[in-house]
Amino acid sequence: MNEHLLDIRNLKTWYRTYQGYAQVVDGVNLTIDAGKKIGIVGESGCGKTTTMKSVLRVLDERKAYLPEGEILFKNQNILKMRETELQQIRRKNISMISQEPSAALNPVFTVGQQIFDVISYSKQDDTAKNKKELTDIAIKAIRDVFIPDPERILECYPHQLSGGMKQRICIAMALVTPRELLIADEPGTALDVTIQDQIHRLLRALVDEKQTALIMITHSLGVVRELVDQIYVMYAGNIVEVATTNELFKNPLHPYTRGLMDCVPRLSGGGISAGIYGYVPDYVHPTPGCRFSPRCPYVKEICRVQKPLMLEVSEGHTVACFRYTDSFTEQHRQEESIGERA
Ligand SMILES: Nc1ncnc2c1ncn2[C@@H]1O[C@H](COP(=O)(O)OP(=O)(O)O)[C@@H](O)[C@H]1O
Ligand SMILES: [Mg+2]
Repeated sequence: MNEHLLDIRNLKTWYRTYQGYAQVVDGVNLTIDAGKKIGIVGESGCGKTTTMKSVLRVLDERKAYLPEGEILFKNQNILKMRETELQQIRRKNISMISQEPSAALNPVFTVGQQIFDVISYSKQDDTAKNKKELTDIAIKAIRDVFIPDPERILECYPHQLSGGMKQRICIAMALVTPRELLIADEPGTALDVTIQDQIHRLLRALVDEKQTALIMITHSLGVVRELVDQIYVMYAGNIVEVATTNELFKNPLHPYTRGLMDCVPRLSGGGISAGIYGYVPDYVHPTPGCRFSPRCPYVKEICRVQKPLMLEVSEGHTVACFRYTDSFTEQHRQEESIGERA
């Protein structure tokens, strides 16, 4: 019996492109339990959104292909579900906040109409609500995200709201009906940093209050540090390191995680970080072996030919890197001793 709320096993997602299949998600494993908070962190373009859109099956499946893997939500494989079952999941169990609030809101309907639709959609087979009940629920949802004068906001169209307000409305819509899992895809990235920080705090307070599990997606380790209990580091469609937030910050192992760590601004100063040299690779012709090898300062021959498996280095801390395998340490030691003799 599987006790995880969501259990992603060896998920692969490919896009059909004119150049061939782009193998964007490459064997992702991830679990989250009820009420927990995890972060998925990686540079832009490393496949975070694609992974989560696969979970909700909202990719256009004529263009996206999911050749392998299982996505178990409460033991039910989402990849095997029929459309009606999928709708049920989207209606009652999982909601997602998208990266771009303007794109998520429909410009031709008022905010009120859009919130009412979400409530009615989730209640479709329960008792339908009358206008008064819908309005009361919507007003409470808008108050929860600290927008003043909710009665007026219900009558507004999205273009009459600021970016921060739109993002709050998206959060209100995602949480207006009870959900077990909320996927927040870089909420607030399109906003300035002070508003972004408020949005993150608000999100955290709301998921705590409603005991919703949270998957927070971001490109910045600094952002998730205060928000989640466990972090998955993703690079080019692979999960390369998993640890609790404290452990990851204390003891980052993967060279990519360390590179990301260097990008977190420090209060003590130190100037602009060097960042990580190079780019996320081409997914149509992915690098054989470790996908990070072309950018890795510690690369060895084996890294270019063989894919490193996830290795548990201490309890709850796993990393996919040959540096932490015995054979690599042995090879490295031999090379060093040859170097010393020369
Ligand atoms: N519909 C699509 N068709 C082809 N390639 C896509 C599509 N959507 C995303 N990609 C590619 O997949 C890769 C990962 O994108 P994405 O999942 O959006 O990454 P992230 O969310 O980490 O920034 C990128 O190289 C992107 O160009
Ligand atoms: Mg994204």
